[in-house]
Amino acid sequence: MKNYIRHDDWKIIEDRLDPNVQEISESLFSIGNGRMGQRANFEEEYSGKSLRGSYVAGVYYPDKTRVGWWKNGYPEYFAKVLNAPSWIGIHVSIDNQKLDLAKCEVEDFYRELDMKTGLLTRRFTATLPDGKRVRVDSRRFCSMANGEIGAIRYVLLPLNFSSTATLSIYVNADVVNKDSNYDEKFWEEVHREASEGRALVTAQTRKTFFHVTTGMEYRLSAGKGKLHSRVNVELREKFAGNVIQLDLEQGNELVVVKYGAVLSSENHPKAAMTGACRKVLEKAVKDGFDKLFQAHAKVWESKWRKCDITINGDTAAQQGIRFNIFQLMQTYTGEDERLNIGPKGFTGEKYGGSTYWDTEAYCLPFFLGTADPSVARNLLVYRYKHLEKAIENAQKLGFSGGAALYPMVTMNGEECHNEWEITFEEIHRNGAIAFAIYDYIRYTGDQHYLAEYGLEVLIGISRFWAQRVNWSENKRKYVMLGVTGPNEYENNVSNNWYTNKFAVWTLQYAAQCAADVRKKNLTRYKEIARKVKFREKEELGHWHSIATRMYFPEDPERKIVLQQDGFLDKELLKAANLGLEDRPLNQKWSWDRILRSCFIKQADVLQGLYFFEDEFDEDTIRRNFDFYEPMTVHESSLSPCVHVILASRLGYTDKAYEFYLRTARLDLDDYNNDTEDGCHITSMAGTWMSLVKGFGGMRVRDGKLHFNPFIPQQWKSYSFRLDFRGRVINVIVTKRKTETILESGRPVDIVLRGRTIRLQNQRRKKS
Ligand code: BGC
Repeated sequence: MKNYIRHDDWKIIEDRLDPNVQEISESLFSIGNGRMGQRANFEEEYSGKSLRGSYVAGVYYPDKTRVGWWKNGYPEYFAKVLNAPSWIGIHVSIDNQKLDLAKCEVEDFYRELDMKTGLLTRRFTATLPDGKRVRVDSRRFCSMANGEIGAIRYVLLPLNFSSTATLSIYVNADVVNKDSNYDEKFWEEVHREASEGRALVTAQTRKTFFHVTTGMEYRLSAGKGKLHSRVNVELREKFAGNVIQLDLEQGNELVVVKYGAVLSSENHPKAAMTGACRKVLEKAVKDGFDKLFQAHAKVWESKWRKCDITINGDTAAQQGIRFNIFQLMQTYTGEDERLNIGPKGFTGEKYGGSTYWDTEAYCLPFFLGTADPSVARNLLVYRYKHLEKAIENAQKLGFSGGAALYPMVTMNGEECHNEWEITFEEIHRNGAIAFAIYDYIRYTGDQHYLAEYGLEVLIGISRFWAQRVNWSENKRKYVMLGVTGPNEYENNVSNNWYTNKFAVWTLQYAAQCAADVRKKNLTRYKEIARKVKFREKEELGHWHSIATRMYFPEDPERKIVLQQDGFLDKELLKAANLGLEDRPLNQKWSWDRILRSCFIKQADVLQGLYFFEDEFDEDTIRRNFDFYEPMTVHESSLSPCVHVILASRLGYTDKAYEFYLRTARLDLDDYNNDTEDGCHITSMAGTWMSLVKGFGGMRVRDGKLHFNPFIPQQWKSYSFRLDFRGRVINVIVTKRKTETILESGRPVDIVLRGRTIRLQNQRRKKS
């Protein structure tokens, strides 16, 4: 755990340059805008340890699956989010000495990410080897108002000298992934050009043939007087820029404003990209840094108006929750249904930047609560568009008749993960995708979604479950063999309670939705039935039979459900008794030892009780929580938040707070010693859920928002906002009371601690 980020309500601040944490800071101070993003690399050269990373949404490379022992059904490739061409470089050298912060003496270093406006600022004074001192002030943002634009204002002040400087201002497509085998490069040049003040490179990804045009224009000026400069064009493979020689004058600022444009062939015809990039740049230059920044900050302002959470009395917690919200908002803006949310967003390469069940189980509730419903809807439509591929994926594994198995890890709908116990066995992801449809409709009330898209997906998934189970003559029940539940520290188990539960739930929900669409829109129902060749009577009958005769492992003595068959044969130990030398288990123990142990990587049974809490009474939830929580090691960042929500409901308020801290500052304090790889973007949505569903006790029941809040004793008050069915509702919880304010939209009934209240005209209701 680290503790070098200064606590502040709205800002992430680092006030010294420490090469040992440089890569962590590069992750933490990352900026993005849903279309592109980059780690907080320096504009200048930096020869110290650094992971230079720029990423473009939806652009990936299919790296051929290389395994020692091939298993039929393995996907051909593992998708990698690509480290993309970069537009931020401004290299400076003065009298042939490079401004390289790893080689200069650096004072007054200050890096700040203002989350209110999405602005990354950096300041420092550097002394070059010959004693020349310069002061630098840089500001940078990726525009939330136009996802193809970014800008930098870089000001350099010579403090004790006048001399000649050389600047290299460029775009560079000669980049490599950190996780690339043998430093293999994934980009090929298509076009490069440079003229005075402008440069661009179009590069193409190998195999996937995405084109990305990365361009830049810049303007130079002096604080006082006229600037004299000589410009040479610099062009080499995958690189285009200008080399500028100019005279620096002591005490006179040199101002470089650099505009970057990143265009992807996902959004432009390939042949038109160079021209389009020039136009984007022209417009950016015409608007200028300030106007672009104002438009960008305005978008942030309107986002925060809907999604801000305040915590009074605990700056660390305040900073933590805003950081989580900020990162999620800049990773996914929800305008493009082809895009999704990689576990590291634009902050790193780990997990291949691909889509996981994290989206449906964690991110969806966040976007439902904080953004326009179209944002969450696009996340669902993304999966709808991948239905054909999910059916193909199931076919590859031997399923038929329109059964759909969504991939565990995907970029374009194809499975691209190749650990058999995950690819073939972690099929519970299908359940989360089905549940997301229910969750979306429950929250938004958008019933039309079912007829339009949802029902087809539910039928595909149900068909999969119906074939994946088998009848056990021995048990006289349906069973499900050879699965991995959410707890990846168990593989190839039988009757994982969570997976069995999801199979039954989906079969029942799909049947109910089919009846619903049939009743409300017979024409569309018939259309869907024809399209998917739905053998209504037979299939519904089979689903019903499975749903009513499914086997669930239980322990009648303890009155708990069992994570899987045979769980009680394990030696039941407590995670609290593990020594420091054992943690994290996945780094300290052999896989064999982990598999045989009782220790649980992340919520499994408890994940199921979170999803289906309304089906269980409080005592049942408590007994299961008391049994499983002590064995859980939370070695997935997705785990603590589920525990916050259940602990809050059970009145275990101290425990809830303890788990909350673990999730809220996971990256800021580098709890798991891995933030240098990137931030845990998808689990950040879990932090939001912890506060809103956990502490705030928010649920949606019968079309109404319910709240059952408590306040951790460490806080004076907290408040959160929800975008609910055309209203923005602010909930403020203090030690003495809870206020709910309708900030915009028509009057609405909410239920506060079991009492229905009408909110209207921005008048406050207290309890
Ligand atoms: C977790 C998975 C998760 C993945 C990506 C893994 O460590 O066990 O549940 O989907 O990370 O976040």
